Amino acid sequence: MSKNDAVRVLLIIAGTRPGRLGATVAEWFTRVTAAVAVDSRARVEVADLREIGLPLLDEPEHPSTGIYQHEHTRAWSRLVADADAFVIVTPEHNHGMPAALKNALDHLSAEWACKPVSFVGYGHTSAGTRAVHMAKQVATTLRMMPTGATVALRIGDHVAEGRMLDDPARDDAARGTLRELVRLARVLRPLYRPEAGPDAEPATPDGSRPPLPGVRVRPAEASDAAELVVLQRCCWVAEAVANETFDLGPLHETGDDVRAWADDWAVWCARLEGRLVGAVRARRDGDTWEIGRLMVAPDLAGRGLGTWLLRFAERQVPAGVGTLRLHTGARSHRNIALYERSGYRRGPVRDDAVLLTKPVTAVC
Ligand SMILES: Cc1cc2nc3c(=O)[nH]c(=O)nc-3n(C[C@H](O)[C@H](O)[C@H](O)COP(=O)(O)O)c2cc1C
Repeated sequence: MSKNDAVRVLLIIAGTRPGRLGATVAEWFTRVTAAVAVDSRARVEVADLREIGLPLLDEPEHPSTGIYQHEHTRAWSRLVADADAFVIVTPEHNHGMPAALKNALDHLSAEWACKPVSFVGYGHTSAGTRAVHMAKQVATTLRMMPTGATVALRIGDHVAEGRMLDDPARDDAARGTLRELVRLARVLRPLYRPEAGPDAEPATPDGSRPPLPGVRVRPAEASDAAELVVLQRCCWVAEAVANETFDLGPLHETGDDVRAWADDWAVWCARLEGRLVGAVRARRDGDTWEIGRLMVAPDLAGRGLGTWLLRFAERQVPAGVGTLRLHTGARSHRNIALYERSGYRRGPVRDDAVLLTKPVTAVC
C-alpha cells in the first residue's frame, strides 16, 4: 500500500434506538462530503452499530492481546483493522456517549491505534459536545488521533420532522472535517501500517498481506532454528494428544536437526513484533510440491494465520509442478479439516499418517 492509495474511512453510527436520528445524520454527512471523498480518494463505508449488534464485551482476554474467542469480535476486528480512519456519528446520552459506542470501542485495541478519528455529535442543549468530549478521552486512550475539526449539531437548529434542514456553513464544516481526516490518515499511515512506510519492506516476499496486522513473513535463517524448535514442540503437543503418541519427530528435534532439514526445504517464518508466531516449509519432489511443518503459536490459533501460511506456501510452487501434497496424523482431525477446507483430498493412511493432495491448478 503506498502513501497515495485510497483511504478507507469507516463511518460508525453509534445511535441504536428505534427511530434514532443517527442514520439521518450519517446519510447527510456522506452525501455532502461525497465530492471531497472523490477528490481526496477516500472510500467511506458505514458501520452501523445497531446492525453489527455486538453483545456486551464477552471476551475473556484483554483486547490488547488480540486473542478473540468469538466470531462477532473477529468480524468487528477485521472491519476496524481494515479501516484507515473513522468518523463517529454519535448522539449525546446523559451528557456522555451511548453505551453501544463505548462497548464497540472497548472490544478492540491495536485495530484503533494511531488512526485518526473525527466526530459528528448531535444532541439538544450542548449539540452533542459532551458526548464527543467523553468519546475523545476514550479514543485517545486507545491511541487514536482526533482531528481538530468536528461537527456539532444542535437538533433544534438542524433537524425538523426527522430531516436535516439546509445549512451551507454546517455542510462546509462536514467537508472540512473529512478533508482533515483523510490528510491525517495519509500522514499517519506509516505508524498504523508500518509496512506502508516509505522505507518499509513489504510484509511478505510476494507482497501479500497476512491476516494479522504487523505479521511479517521471511525465509528462515540459521538463527531461527532455536525458536523453530520451541514453536514446533508447542504446536506438536496437540498432535501428540490427538494421536496418542509422543513418537513424533517435531517433538524431539534439536536445533541441529532443524538446521539440517532447513538445508533441503524452503522454510518461511512469520514474526509478530519480533516473536516467531508461525512457520511452514515446502520442497519439490519430482512432480509434487510437498508442504509441511505448518505451525502457528497456540495463543494465535483460530485467527486465519495457519490457512494463510498454507496458501502462501502453495503460491511458492515452482513452475512445472502438478500436485501439492502434505500429510498429518490420521487422527489430527483439526488439521485434516483445515486441509480439506483448503481443497485437499484425503489419500491413503500409512503409518498412522494421512496423505492429502490437491492439484496445482486449484491454487488461487
Ligand atoms: C437516554 C437518552 C439520554 C439523553 N441525554 C441527553 C443529554 O444528556 N443531552 C442532550 O443534549 N440530549 C440528550 N438526549 C437527547 C438525544 O441527544 C436525542 O434524542 C438524539 O436524537 C438521540 O440520538 P438518536 O436519535 O440517534 O438515538 C438523550 C436521549 C436519550 C434517549
